[in-house]
Amino acid sequence: MQSRFFPALVVALVLAAQPLLSQETATPVAEGQSTPQAATGARPHGPQPKPVNLKVLPKDMAREDLIKLMRGYAGALGVKCNFCHAANPQTHKLDFPSDAKDDKTIARTMIAMTQTINEQYMAQVHDPDAMPEDKHVTCGTCHRGHSMPEHFVPPPEQRHHPPAGAAPGEQPQ
Ligand code: HEC
Ligand code: HEC
Repeated sequence: MQSRFFPALVVALVLAAQPLLSQETATPVAEGQSTPQAATGARPHGPQPKPVNLKVLPKDMAREDLIKLMRGYAGALGVKCNFCHAANPQTHKLDFPSDAKDDKTIARTMIAMTQTINEQYMAQVHDPDAMPEDKHVTCGTCHRGHSMPEHFVPPPEQRHHPPAGAAPGEQPQ
């Protein structure tokens, strides 16, 4: 028999677990793990809908991995979730599957671009000087905490390249 008090119990458990769950480090998940059970079963975690509108990320991605990735995007761009995700006008809660914001569409292009850079180009680079973290491009490589990457202007003394064939001594140091 289905107890009508079960939902109340779930709410109580979720509230009790909240301080623990709010610590990102409390739930380490292996990168690339994609067991759907991790997102749905096991823990009294309230309703955790599976992602329904993934177009570039793997559709079977575990929700925990997805949220970790999303926090990474937000940090790399120095924004909050609502920079890319539109709020539902009625509930004022973020409607994550909605594609109403242009920045979400741009972010999809950026995700695909970053994947291509890594898979097609960075994978060909065999640089003995590179640390493991140098081996791939991330959102932060370009964005560095800004929603729009900042324009880079080289310092004045490096602006003028020596013309081809110029003697080294002719250039200001
Ligand atoms: C820079 C833009 C950006 C930021 C910031 C961002 N997201 Fe996302 N989010 C996306 C994109 C793009 C997708 C869809 C990816 C795809 O199509 O594969 C997505 C998808 C999602 C989904 C899946 C929705 C569904 O059902 O399809 C969830 C949940 C989500 N984001 C949560 C978050 C949370 C929580 C934050 C803040 C910690 C956040 N996002 C911050 C761009 C962003
Ligand atoms: C190779 C450099 C590079 C990488 C890597 C990169 N971006 Fe971008 N991004 C840009 C540039 C340049 C722009 C400005 C282009 C424009 O708006 O026309 C931009 C613009 C954006 C915008 C629009 C910002 C705005 O204010 O309109 C979003 C959102 C975005 N990037 C998300 C991401 C995400 C998420 C990632 C990682 C998955 C990422 N980018 C990786 C270079 C990069």
